[in-house]
Amino acid sequence: MRQYSAEKLQIFLDIATEAVMSAGVVLQDHWGKLETIEEKGRSGDLVTEADKKAEAQILKVLRRYVPEHQILAEESGQLGDGGNECLWAIDPLDGTTNYAHGYPIASVSVGLLIEGIPQVGAVYNPFRNELFRAAKGLGATCNRRPIRVSQTAELSKSLLVTGFAYDRRETTDNNYAEFCYLTHLTQGVRRSGSASLDLTDVACGRLDGYWERGLRPWDIAAGIVLVEEAGGKVTAYDGSPLEIDSGRIMATNGQIHPSLSQALKEARLTDKTPKPSIESD
Ligand code: IPD
Ligand code: CA
Ligand code: CA
Repeated sequence: MRQYSAEKLQIFLDIATEAVMSAGVVLQDHWGKLETIEEKGRSGDLVTEADKKAEAQILKVLRRYVPEHQILAEESGQLGDGGNECLWAIDPLDGTTNYAHGYPIASVSVGLLIEGIPQVGAVYNPFRNELFRAAKGLGATCNRRPIRVSQTAELSKSLLVTGFAYDRRETTDNNYAEFCYLTHLTQGVRRSGSASLDLTDVACGRLDGYWERGLRPWDIAAGIVLVEEAGGKVTAYDGSPLEIDSGRIMATNGQIHPSLSQALKEARLTDKTPKPSIESD
């Protein structure tokens, strides 16, 4: 694997930062004033002019600094030189459904994969004015202050988060059983509607763990670097190395990793969806 110097990674991180911050301005400008909300084929998968304009802004920044790199952008697809080992994974608006409904949880996520491995990431939440940044070996920060994952050691004391992909009505692998089972075993399972913010919340210790399926690299590339650099662990559900194209991710503070992995297995192997023990009216 090609090793980039810390100085080079820092330069890429600054580029990612400029990209997410300038796209964040676009999201702020369009907030509450959307003119077009369209479905992108799959029921419920929305796109607005804010997604498109924010993405155009990010592409402008990347083309200015690193025109030779490859890009995988949610709204524009694969762009650039297929032979280059650097690939930027861009989600201009992660949390489009929230944003389109006026529910203020959404972010801009820009991650850089080098030879397929996420190594640089920036996520900006314009609603909380929080900028999360990380690069391999350089640590993770929120608004320039170092962040760490939580110290929760038991699943029963943990607060988790998950999400449900747009194909959830078309597959039995829709995460419903896992959601019910983990809700029963933990202090709660949240659903924010923004995968990149789920990962940043694990990275800064607000949440202890996250899992989801049906994701795309642009949803998680930046967040993976943040969790890892904040001392957490990111793998496939079974604990094996993450394959970003699999769309399936488990990210935790490290301590609850084995027990979350075990619980996800149990939830799928048997229908352990809890039934109420007390009849209520
Ligand atoms: C979605 C969000 C959501 C996750 C979906 C993603 P979008 O991204 O990250 O949390 O559950 O699977 O597709 O469509 O808002 O960019
Ligand atoms: Ca997304
Ligand atoms: Ca998006």
